[in-house]
Amino acid sequence: VPSGAAFALATLRPTIVFVIALDRPEQFEIASAFAFACGATGAESLFGPEREIWRFYFSEAGAAEDAVRIWRDRLGIDARIERLRPPADPLAAFRAAARPRPVGRSFWLAPGDVLEPAPGGRIALHLPASTAFGTGGHESTRLAIRRLEEEVLDGLRVLDLGSGSGVLALAASALGAGSVHALDLDADAVFEARRNLLRNPVAARGVHLLAGGLESLAGVYDLAVANMLFSELSPLLAGIGGRLAGTGRAVFSGLLAEQRREFVALCAEAGFAVDGEAGEGEWIAIAARRG
Ligand SMILES: C[S@@+](CC[C@H](N)C(=O)[O-])C[C@H]1O[C@@H](n2cnc3c(N)ncnc32)[C@H](O)[C@@H]1O
Repeated sequence: VPSGAAFALATLRPTIVFVIALDRPEQFEIASAFAFACGATGAESLFGPEREIWRFYFSEAGAAEDAVRIWRDRLGIDARIERLRPPADPLAAFRAAARPRPVGRSFWLAPGDVLEPAPGGRIALHLPASTAFGTGGHESTRLAIRRLEEEVLDGLRVLDLGSGSGVLALAASALGAGSVHALDLDADAVFEARRNLLRNPVAARGVHLLAGGLESLAGVYDLAVANMLFSELSPLLAGIGGRLAGTGRAVFSGLLAEQRREFVALCAEAGFAVDGEAGEGEWIAIAARRG
C-alpha cells in the first residue's frame, strides 16, 4: 500500500471505491498486488467493529471490475464496487453566473467555466473561481495587475509571493517577464494555479510554481509582487528585499488605505523607497524600489 504524500495524491480524485471485507487479512498483500496491477490509484484501511475493511480506489470502472473478478476467482475474496459521489462544488453556481471583466488596459479576466474571446485585443486569462484567491473579483488583485502594467517587465525575473490562483504570475508573464517564480504556502492553491497554467498556456510560459514560503527560494529577482494582508506582508518585507537585485522593484497590494502610513514606514525600515501608489475603494497598492 502506498503511504504518506504519494498515497494522498493518488487518492485525490477517486471516482470509484472498491470495498473488500477481508476475512483473511493475511491475504491482503496479494489482494493489494492484484488491485494495483489492475490500476488501483490508492488504498486505505478501516477498522470496523467486527472486521478489518480495506478500501481500494480506482478511477476507471473497468479496472475495478477486473480486480473484483480476479479476487473472487483466484483468492475467494468477497468484494463489492461502490461509486463515490464527487464532492459538492460550492462555487459551481457562481461560475455559471460569472461574467468576464476588463482589468487594467490589457486584460480580460474570465472567472466562469467558459472562456470567450476577449474584446479589443485584450489578453484573456481564464481563471475559473476556485478555492484559490485571485479571479479579478477583488480590488487588491486588480490593483496589483494595474500596477504591474506600469512597470517595464520585459525579460525580468519576477517573484510572485502569495500566488493564489496564479493570476499575477500569468499577468506578469503576459506583460513580458522573462520568468516568474510563483509561491504560495497553501498547497491546494498551488494545485489550482497549476490548472490555471494549463488553461492559459501562452501566458503560462516561463511561470514556475512552488508550494512554500520565501525561505524556499535561493534565486535573485528583479521585481517582486505580493498581494497579501498587511499582517502577512509586513514581516516578509526584509526577506523580499533580500531576494531582490540591487535595482529591484516591488509591488505590494492587499493593503487598506488606513494602513498606508504604517506600511510606508515599514518599507523604509526594510530598505524600500516607495515611489508609486494606486487605490480602488478602501484598498491600495504600493510600488517601491530597493535602496
Ligand atoms: C490575497 S491572496 C492573493 C492571490 C493572488 N496573488 C491575487 O493577487 O489575487 C494571498 C495569498 O497569499 C498566500 N500567503 C499568505 N502568506 C504567505 C506566505 N508567507 N508565503 C507565501 N504565500 C502566502 C495565501 O495562501 C493566499 O493564497
